[in-house]
Amino acid sequence: MKGTSLTKFWHEIQETKEGLDKLKKVPMQEYIEYMSLLEESENIWRKAKQKNDYEIFRPTLEKIVAFNRKYVKYVETEKLKGYDVLLDEYEKGMTMKDYDEFFSKIKTELVPFVKKVLDKKLELDDSFNKLSYPKEQQREFFKYLAETLGFNFNKGVLKESEHPFTSGFGTTDVRVTNHYYENDFTSSIFSGIHELGHALYEQQINPELDHTLSGGGGSMALHESQSRFYENIIGRSLDFWKIHFPKLKSVFKKQLRGVKLKDFHKLINRAEASLIRTEADELTYPIHIMIRYDIEKALFAGEIEVKDLPRIWNDKYQEYLGLEVPSDREGILQDIHWAGGSFGYFPTYALGSAYAAQIYKVMNRDFKVLKSLQSGDTKEINAWLKERLHKYGSTKPPKELFRICVGGKFNPKHYIDYLIKKYTKIYELK
Ligand code: CO
Repeated sequence: MKGTSLTKFWHEIQETKEGLDKLKKVPMQEYIEYMSLLEESENIWRKAKQKNDYEIFRPTLEKIVAFNRKYVKYVETEKLKGYDVLLDEYEKGMTMKDYDEFFSKIKTELVPFVKKVLDKKLELDDSFNKLSYPKEQQREFFKYLAETLGFNFNKGVLKESEHPFTSGFGTTDVRVTNHYYENDFTSSIFSGIHELGHALYEQQINPELDHTLSGGGGSMALHESQSRFYENIIGRSLDFWKIHFPKLKSVFKKQLRGVKLKDFHKLINRAEASLIRTEADELTYPIHIMIRYDIEKALFAGEIEVKDLPRIWNDKYQEYLGLEVPSDREGILQDIHWAGGSFGYFPTYALGSAYAAQIYKVMNRDFKVLKSLQSGDTKEINAWLKERLHKYGSTKPPKELFRICVGGKFNPKHYIDYLIKKYTKIYELK
């Protein structure tokens, strides 16, 4: 903790203490039993998913939910009650009041717009997307993207893994992985940019905070706001590809011969109603999260029970995305989170995207963000984010970090506006 005063870490110390105090309120025996339940639960979930049978997982999930309902009761405070206890554990300071406001906007404003988008067919020639793209060249292009976005190779490495991820051990050791599918070449481009967004955040934290409690990103949603900012707002913009599409074509000479920028841009922004959250596009993604939020909230309000979940899940996918869920595997069993006892986690994903849109709005007041991409790099953007967010690490609570970054409170309006504007243009609506 060299050269930095302890007061800088006050809120981190406070939080660590809160965590310990909470744990003391849970009867030891119950906690131990829950921990051993979690040791098996992921395997049981995996088996259920494999066999496509919710009933295999249901009894385990019932126990997990029962414990978490009791846990909430044990650690409740005057200020935090019910599901709020869990929401606060993943995103400090965020409660049902905040999320209700956010997701009700998604429900009333985004859902009807999405229906309009999905009713219209996007005309494009996507035959190039069905070709095979060798991993070696994908790796080469990912390296090019890392250079473009300003990833510091002296303070980090790029590797490969089954699921892409980023881990930071201080600003000098940031590890990023990507995964390459030869039959789906845009997948590694966007998982790559996503992870690079996480990595830039880590690399731009004030190095004085290295190896301290405050040396990482501010919160789940703030971290995700950075990955989504680079992935969606920058990485899926036409301006970005006006500069970098020629390079992509030179790496995949055969596959992309004669392919038009316009078609590539449409391909990477195509919106579709889909069953699987992790494969969802930028537009429909928050609807997947809204569904999970509604279910978790009702579960912790005692309004629904674990046995009802598949029916409720399927009804909601029908209602909001117009989809028939054909199997548990593609429905209620798709995500690992509940098997690990993670309730209150999902909302941070959508919050991250919404934060990104508001950051984008505010950044544009200082300079024309997309225009700045003409320089061929993202230096101006990186510098702005470093100054307004990254450098602070987690020295302050997340809501305060966000307030410093955008100069005000979170307002979901910016996210809805951003999505509607973007997709109205791409889908030539109105
Ligand atoms: Co991420």
